[in-house]
Amino acid sequence: MEIKKVGIIGTGTMGLGVAQVIATAGIDVVAVKATPGSLDRARNTLVTGLAKLVERGKMDEGTKNSIVDRVTFSASEQDVAPCDLVIESVIEDITTKKALFQRLEQIVAKECILATNTSTLSVTEMMAVCTERVRVAGLHFFNPVPVMRLIEVIHAFETSSKTVTALMEFSRKVGKDPVLVQDTTGFIVNRLLTPYMLEAVRLLEHGTGTIDAIDHALMTGASMPMGPFSLADYIGLDVVLAMSNNIYQDVRQQYCSAPHTLIRLVQLGYLGRKTNKGFYDYSKKPAIPNPQLRHPVA
Ligand SMILES: NC(=O)c1ccc[n+]([C@@H]2O[C@H](COP(=O)([O-])OP(=O)(O)OC[C@H]3O[C@@H](n4cnc5c(N)ncnc54)[C@H](O)[C@@H]3O)[C@@H](O)[C@H]2O)c1
Repeated sequence: MEIKKVGIIGTGTMGLGVAQVIATAGIDVVAVKATPGSLDRARNTLVTGLAKLVERGKMDEGTKNSIVDRVTFSASEQDVAPCDLVIESVIEDITTKKALFQRLEQIVAKECILATNTSTLSVTEMMAVCTERVRVAGLHFFNPVPVMRLIEVIHAFETSSKTVTALMEFSRKVGKDPVLVQDTTGFIVNRLLTPYMLEAVRLLEHGTGTIDAIDHALMTGASMPMGPFSLADYIGLDVVLAMSNNIYQDVRQQYCSAPHTLIRLVQLGYLGRKTNKGFYDYSKKPAIPNPQLRHPVA
């Protein structure tokens, strides 16, 4: 099955990254904004990101323009009707995603694959509200989408092998390196990475080390490209908290529970890079550890 047109629901960090990667592979994209607001803002974010690549000599102007031309921005879910694959990348909330899948089934053709970019929610639970369950699967991209090579292709309970094969082929076509994963909470990467980030927050709370000491130690002592606090800020602290809660619901082990500091930062709207403040304060150049989180011995 050839995927010639892809719909993306949600134009946040991940939705726009996914749109860029698919358009770069020469495939047309309809990117639907999931919440009210300006379509121009989403388009400008895409254009600005690509313009930076042109400035740095990593892309020519013609390629940039052809990528932008392949992405149609829309405020209406109805516009994904002609797509062969629709990827949802809205807020990590099961009720929102299930309702969206039900609406999408009323819009797209019977053969259209419906995929979720969820980090930790059950794909099978989304599949359960659908009539054509064999075409439902997970397509889990990583942040930043244009850079990270992995896609986890999630085989949910009733996903057909035809759907899995089409998604594995599609992932390679858009330049990624897919792995097939069964639908279990957190799949492979987040099931391992989430407790790691949570434990770093607990070390901070225990006064074991400062934010930069812990990040520095993991980078220089464990060859991590970035430390756990930088990574959490990069992912988005609301997303990390949602992942933690979802994994905890399944595993019921203390090591998967959200630490106090993470919960408080999210309550205050300090969500990491996307709000300019989280474990680090990005309004300063270079970013500094958030002074509000300085522990007593720092
Ligand atoms: N951030 C990451 O590193 C990462 C990586 C892989 C997968 N994901 C998953 O991708 C999805 C999107 O995450 P993101 O990082 O792009 O988040 P984001 O905050 O950047 O974007 C969230 C999107 O959800 C929409 N939205 C917000 N409230 C909504 C509501 N009530 N109903 C419908 N839509 C709503 C917003 O308009 C936006 O398009 C989530 O399921 C997340 O778990 C995130």
